[in-house]
Amino acid sequence: MSILEVSGLRKVYTTRLGGNRVEALRNVNFSVENGEYVAIMGESGSGKTTLLNILAALDKPTSGVVVLDGQNLAKIKESQVATFRRDNLGFVFQDFNLLDTFSLEDNIYLPLVLAGRPYREMKERLDPIAQRLGITELLKKYPYEVSGGQKQRAAVARALITNPKLILADEPTGALDSKSTDELLELFGEINKYGQTILMVTHSVKAASHAGRVMFIKDGEVFHQIYRANNTIQQFYQKISDTLTMLATGGDRR
Ligand SMILES: Nc1ncnc2c1ncn2[C@@H]1O[C@H](COP(=O)(O)OP(=O)(O)O)[C@@H](O)[C@H]1O
Ligand SMILES: [Mg+2]
Repeated sequence: MSILEVSGLRKVYTTRLGGNRVEALRNVNFSVENGEYVAIMGESGSGKTTLLNILAALDKPTSGVVVLDGQNLAKIKESQVATFRRDNLGFVFQDFNLLDTFSLEDNIYLPLVLAGRPYREMKERLDPIAQRLGITELLKKYPYEVSGGQKQRAAVARALITNPKLILADEPTGALDSKSTDELLELFGEINKYGQTILMVTHSVKAASHAGRVMFIKDGEVFHQIYRANNTIQQFYQKISDTLTMLATGGDRR
């Protein structure tokens, strides 16, 4: 079953005077199956952030349709969008987006606090997640007291705690050293194995090689995609590198 269906997505930015138009997304079509782990790669300016913002209902497309778990995002009332986002999506960002004045635990609880859930339920949800992510001992600490990798694990816990249909990650390893990157990628692989659907934008071939499918976006369109299938992560890494080289040297689409 598709959890996400994107069709004919187009986004044109215009300056206030209307003089300057940028077609950030031209015609994006793809779907994501329940339980998939998909990476999106593309050069700077290819429309990745624009796409993520639209999928997160943070921005509206010029035309085209996004359906998340059967719900057309355009049909959600303005007053319901924040609730919809909180109930259905988890976010992991490059720069963690943790609040410095909150402990890790309170950061992780935040989406549930905003949803008005009782404390007992929050705690019941957090315990197994914290254990799985190895941050149980760190929960009372503040973001500035822990490493980047530990911050990102707290951010993953915050994304998981609402039990979202889809995790959207924007360069989640972008600010991590190589050891923390390895740990985070292992973690993403593991939560995906448990059934979590993940859509991750990344520049990193290494990060993408952990996904089950990589979509390449170029000039506002999905230009190409490859599946890991039975390849090992190492083999897939090589395939992704080769594909990027082919795309950079102007490889023809057909
Ligand atoms: N708010 C905006 N207003 C005008 N142009 C924008 C805006 N956001 C992005 N763009 C343009 O849209 C294109 C795609 O940008 P973006 O989605 O940020 O790409 P990426 O994340 O792949 O680097 C770029 O040409 C960028 O300059
Ligand atoms: Mg971007």
